Amino acid sequence: MTKVKIGIIGGSGLYKMEALTDVEEIRVDTPFGSPSDAFIVGTLEGTRVAFLPRHDRNHALLPSELPFRANIYGMKSLGVEYLISASAVGSLKEEVKPLDLVVVDQFIDRTKGRISTFFGEGIAGHITFENPTCPQLAKMLADAAESLNLSDINVHRSGTYLCMEGPAFSTKAESNLYRSWGATVIGMTNLPEAKLAREAEIAYATLALSTDYDCWHEEHESVTVEMVINNLHKNAVNAQKVIQETVRRLSQNQFVSDSHSALKNAILTPLDKVPA
Ligand code: ADE
Repeated sequence: MTKVKIGIIGGSGLYKMEALTDVEEIRVDTPFGSPSDAFIVGTLEGTRVAFLPRHDRNHALLPSELPFRANIYGMKSLGVEYLISASAVGSLKEEVKPLDLVVVDQFIDRTKGRISTFFGEGIAGHITFENPTCPQLAKMLADAAESLNLSDINVHRSGTYLCMEGPAFSTKAESNLYRSWGATVIGMTNLPEAKLAREAEIAYATLALSTDYDCWHEEHESVTVEMVINNLHKNAVNAQKVIQETVRRLSQNQFVSDSHSALKNAILTPLDKVPA
């Protein structure tokens, strides 16, 4: 199979990309078990892309149950060099309204014990993670989103994503704490993906789609699954437009990202001592 350089991970509400043509389903086995679902490989804007529904197409997987390593390993084995991740989030800032889009550029980790590395078992390595998303891919995503002039929707070109464990939503005290830390949005999935993508030398960017004001806002109801679902459908339509436009730009300009050489100087174990 020819290499598929562009990967897309769809979050809650985004279980397929309607615009894909010449679609084939590819199941990939990995040393880390099965990915969340089969990869849907198809053509978008004249380019082959691999789409994966993060929670499986029937939304059967909790954030804590996601096979993050298998998902990223699977993308890498298909040849993916650029990975666009779409994710439903709660807003922790007044100015990020439900349905707004945030191109995330920082993360805060509040997950518990998720395996977020391919290192270990004889190989000690530490990637640089000052900028956890690829600035060029994030810029392309933000430019693409802005160019669409989606009505009543603001595009926020940067923002900090607080990644919580879940599955319960936050308490009000937690929500206010995260606001005091300066976090912009809250979700349950993106940080392990960003770390593993960097270790896999894949350029990664997150399109966060706001569905609610979590539970801190005095004038808005606290987040419920019903509220999230109501906005997910609209978000999924917008996400597909933004991703399609990003893929169009990316297929015309396949830049070299720092992420593509993230392992240079990252591994402490001498190469001749690395287990085969
Ligand atoms: N995903 C969508 N809304 C969320 C919220 N308020 N907290 C965590 N994850 C979310």
